[in-house]
Amino acid sequence: MQIDFTYYNPTTIYFGKESLSNLKGELEHYGETVLLVYGKAAIKKNGIYDNVIAILKEAGKKAVELSGVMPNPTYSKMQEGCELVRKHDVGLILAVGGGSVIDCAKGISVSAYCDEDPFTKYWLQYQPVSNKTVPVASILTMVGTGSEMNGGSVITNEETKIKAGRVFPADVYPRFSILNPEYTYTVSQYQMVSGVFDTMSHLMEQYFTGTDSNTTDYLIEALLRSSIDNVRVALKNPEDYEARSNIMWNATLALNTITGLSKVQDWQVHMIEHQLGAYTDCAHGMGLAAISLPYYRYIMPGGIDKFARFAAEVWDIPAEGKSRETLAKEGIDALEAFCRECGIVLSLKELGATEDMLPKIAGSTFILGTGYKKLTAGEILDILKECF
Ligand code: NZQ
Ligand code: ZN
Repeated sequence: MQIDFTYYNPTTIYFGKESLSNLKGELEHYGETVLLVYGKAAIKKNGIYDNVIAILKEAGKKAVELSGVMPNPTYSKMQEGCELVRKHDVGLILAVGGGSVIDCAKGISVSAYCDEDPFTKYWLQYQPVSNKTVPVASILTMVGTGSEMNGGSVITNEETKIKAGRVFPADVYPRFSILNPEYTYTVSQYQMVSGVFDTMSHLMEQYFTGTDSNTTDYLIEALLRSSIDNVRVALKNPEDYEARSNIMWNATLALNTITGLSKVQDWQVHMIEHQLGAYTDCAHGMGLAAISLPYYRYIMPGGIDKFARFAAEVWDIPAEGKSRETLAKEGIDALEAFCRECGIVLSLKELGATEDMLPKIAGSTFILGTGYKKLTAGEILDILKECF
């Protein structure tokens, strides 16, 4: 059954090897000064920075730079960007990087002209955006979050140790995003598989809910299968263009709201990972993988038919002669085997957690209750201990 919905996504996607050639024309629509937001070193090493700077010059733009945006971007880094926007009257914030850089850019967009404390107003209280925002665009270099075509912005308040995500309205989505799969060739294997698991987690958060079966569930199964097949190819040959392009587009589709339409959604794994990230600063996708296995095994009795369908449709596990429970369990076992095959880290200890952090992470996790089972803080602690 399709639950009623409205679908709108304002981001223009330029996809392919020549996609950067669209930047100059796009820049004509925005003011004279561009705030270039990027990470620590990658885009300077692989030449993307030089190419972008040359186009900004050709277009007659003045570039102001916010560099050093870290994975799990901090509130103070975001505020540095806000100051630059106000000082230079920035007309476009151009994020060149992965989810952390794009999320930071969106955070700057809504916060630069906010008169109150933006973290409290927007990330904790979820208030509507009432101040002027600055247009954002992105050039994607690391794949997984889907931030290039959504309104999500996840910011870590390093003082309070709260990593909070917020989906902002269409005005804050990137106006355009440039996706060249070749830009991801230099991403390390560790980051690549972390990003692929992030994509898969977005799909599973939207899949393991409800008892209905609608077009969205079929779409999710196809994207999961494509992610699994293509990461296996890219692990063997990181410069396989077809595989890298499929991985890239899967990630965009997994969180550009299209795979959430008509679905109740869970997102409890993400809520736990966000607090894990606030304490450990781990790679987002790795944290999600470690938590997902014990979490799904724990909530499975509430959604046994969907977990059995996952085993059959995503992992091709034969159903004949098996109970729904056995089939469901085999599906999550297959997910675990896939993670091990890809070198995904499944232990919180290896991701930098210490035992004393676990109660703090459990106690500060936001509990949603939209999945197959509403957890208590005690149950979250048990799940964390399970994957410690
Ligand atoms: O800092 P640099 O040198 O740029 O290195 C980065 C970084 O260390 C590197 N990298 C990026 N492009 C590269 C590259 N290395 C080599 N070659 C390239 N072409 O990759 C590392 C990780 O980058 P990061 O942006 O942190 O990764 P990701 O894209 O996974 O973003 C993670 C952040 O996004 C949030 C996460 O919570 C986390 O804070 N999320 C955002 C979402 C959204 N906006 O919708 C949803 C997600 O669920 C997620 O929560
Ligand atoms: Zn994610």
